[in-house]
Amino acid sequence: MQLINRLAALRSAVDQLKTGGKLALVPTMGALHAGHLRLVEAARDAADRVAVSIFVNPAQFGPGEDLDAYPRQLEEDAARLKAAGVDLLWAPSTEEVYAPGFATSVRVDGVSEGLCGASRPGHFDGVALVVAKLFNQVRPDIALFGQKDFQQLAVIRRMAVDLDFPIEIIGVPTVRDADGLALSSRNAYLTAEGRMQAAALPAAMQAAAAALRAGNAPATVLDEAKNSLLRGGFTSIDYLEMRAGDDLRLLDRVQDGARLFVAARIEGTRLIDNIPVAMPA
Ligand code: PAF
Repeated sequence: MQLINRLAALRSAVDQLKTGGKLALVPTMGALHAGHLRLVEAARDAADRVAVSIFVNPAQFGPGEDLDAYPRQLEEDAARLKAAGVDLLWAPSTEEVYAPGFATSVRVDGVSEGLCGASRPGHFDGVALVVAKLFNQVRPDIALFGQKDFQQLAVIRRMAVDLDFPIEIIGVPTVRDADGLALSSRNAYLTAEGRMQAAALPAAMQAAAAALRAGNAPATVLDEAKNSLLRGGFTSIDYLEMRAGDDLRLLDRVQDGARLFVAARIEGTRLIDNIPVAMPA
């Protein structure tokens, strides 16, 4: 595996890699867990060569968010990626990505509004910007993202179509711990007790989805799910909503493709998740 942190070296390494067939990119911010390794596995299935990027992108963190605290462990991550058969690790510095004088923005309207877009203003602009840059830098044929960040996936799909990136975007199902909690680098912020209590999140979501499938009124079901999170140790809920899986519009009744979306805080850590209301047939 080549570990590259300068753009000039990346360009020639990518030219070389692309002679070997289709190139897939898995963009990450590092602190890799089994969910990221699942993306790498899916990339290996979908393409001939696999590149992973590790870049903690300042543009997607708001003031007071965890940019400084975000876990950084490049050596450990690189060893895991090498063992997973990755061909190229692109790990640029902040200055390599955002040179002095950088002044360009990318904004995707519609799907970036509501959900995390409401409580994290500018977050998806930062995501869209860095992913557009990563696409230009690595020039992959395929790019893979986790469905755990479902709104991010929707923003990136829209951006890739709108900006004519000839890249197939693949959404990979969420990897979960045995108790159902979605894997996330932010789970590492939780104490052992908080981590145990966090299982209330997938439990409340599954119970709500079952209640909706059984025909209960969405408003009542969502209220009950919020209450069960607060009883289970969560201190606040940013949102718990039912939306359409394609364009993320709010739904007030169950329909094909409906999903539940949640963001809630426990021990000061904001966890997000989403699940389909009806299991695909
Ligand atoms: O999902 C992430 O880790 C990040 O938002 C991404 C897509 C790598 C962009 O920085």
